[in-house]
Amino acid sequence: MSVPPRPVAAIVPAAGSGERLGAGVPKAMALLGGEPVLAHAVRGLVAEPRVGLVVLACPDGLEASMAAVAAEVAGGVPVVAVTGGATRAGSVRRALDVVPETFAVVLVHDAARCLVPMEVVAAVVDAVLDGASAVVPGLPVVDTIRAVDADGRSRTLDRATLRAVQTPQGFPAAVLRRAHGAGDPGATDDAGMVEALGLPVTLVPGHPRAFKVTTPLDLLLAEALVAGQED
Ligand code: CTP
Ligand code: MG
Repeated sequence: MSVPPRPVAAIVPAAGSGERLGAGVPKAMALLGGEPVLAHAVRGLVAEPRVGLVVLACPDGLEASMAAVAAEVAGGVPVVAVTGGATRAGSVRRALDVVPETFAVVLVHDAARCLVPMEVVAAVVDAVLDGASAVVPGLPVVDTIRAVDADGRSRTLDRATLRAVQTPQGFPAAVLRRAHGAGDPGATDDAGMVEALGLPVTLVPGHPRAFKVTTPLDLLLAEALVAGQED
C-alpha cells in the first residue's frame, strides 16, 4: 500500500485551564506576541507538510473559537475540535476517537509547547515512518537531579543517563489506539502508555524552543523569542 502524501494527524491537547500561568483564560488562548498560544502551536505543526489533519482537545465551550483560531493559521489543513477530558490523557483519548483510520501516524503535541521548531516535528514523523512504535524528543538535563524516597532520603541520579521529554510525540495510529485502550494509570505521557505495552520508545533530539509554557516566567521567554523572530 502506498503512503498517502499527508499521512499524519496531529492531536493538540489544549483543554487545560493554565492554572500555573494564571492568565485568566485557558493557557492555549493566552496571548503571545498578540496571538493565542494555540495559533503558534498549530502553525508549528502544519509547517510539517506531511500533517493532513489537526485535532484540538478544547475546554468545554471553547471548541468553536479555538477551531477558528487554528483554522486561520492552518494553511488549508483541516481542523477538528473536540471537548477535552478532565486529564491530559482523557483529552488525547477523545481527540484520538475522531482521527479517521486513514491516518497512519498520529502526533500528540501540547498547545503549551507552542514554539517547537519544524525540524523536531519532522524528525519525529521520520522516525515513526521508519518503523518506531513511539518517538519522543528529548533533551539532556541541565540540573543535578536527586531522587527522594518515602523516608525523605535522597540521592543524586546520574545526569548523563537522563533526558527531559518534550512533544510532539509520534506513534503509528494503531499503536496509540492500543495504548489508550489499555490506559495504564501510571503513565504520565502517551509514550509511557506505549512503553507499558512492552514496546520500545525511540528518542530523537529535542530543542530548547520546544519548552513548555507553564509559568509567567516561561511566557516572558516565549514573548522574547517571538519578538526576536519578527526583527
Ligand atoms: N491538557 C489537556 N486536557 C487537560 C489538561 C491538560 O488537553 N485536562 C493540555 C494543556 O492544555 C496543555 C498540555 O495538556 O497544552 C500540557 O498540560 P499543562 O502544561 O499542565 O497545561 P494546563 O493543565 O493547562 O496547566 P496547569 O497544570 O498549570 O493548570
Ligand atoms: Mg496541567
